[in-house]
Amino acid sequence: VNLDTLYRQVIMDHYKNPRNKGSLDDSLTVDMNNPTCGDRIHLTLKVDDGKVTDAKFDGEGCSISMASASMMTQAVKGQDIETALKMSEIFSNMMQGKEYDDSIDLGDIEALQGVSKFPARIKCATLAWKAMEKGVNNKEK
Ligand code: FES
Ligand code: FES
Repeated sequence: VNLDTLYRQVIMDHYKNPRNKGSLDDSLTVDMNNPTCGDRIHLTLKVDDGKVTDAKFDGEGCSISMASASMMTQAVKGQDIETALKMSEIFSNMMQGKEYDDSIDLGDIEALQGVSKFPARIKCATLAWKAMEKGVNNKEK
């Protein structure tokens, strides 16, 4: 099994068996869409004491956007806001093919590395992260 195949399997697994699918009550809510295709994400976050204590997503989108949302919710759950935003920055750098800080474990997200070679798909992969950023930044204000 080469790395590409492994990564593809991880992406398909998140797409077919999404983690944290659904919607939380009494939570921060962010709706965002990818203007190029209309795919959308509905993200709900619970933030307590500077920590993302829970995250769920719903929506309609391509396999990359939905797998990425599943991976993102898994990655940020239990992290403090600062770390969640740092993860988003790392992921964004990864998607742009830039060097990124590898001192934080991003979990399954690394499986999306290959997406950086397909510029049209980068928006798919970053949609959920942009939604998360918007949610926690609103909370901060
Ligand atoms: Fe292939 Fe969106 S993941 S078209
Ligand atoms: Fe719409 Fe990927 S094609 S989010």
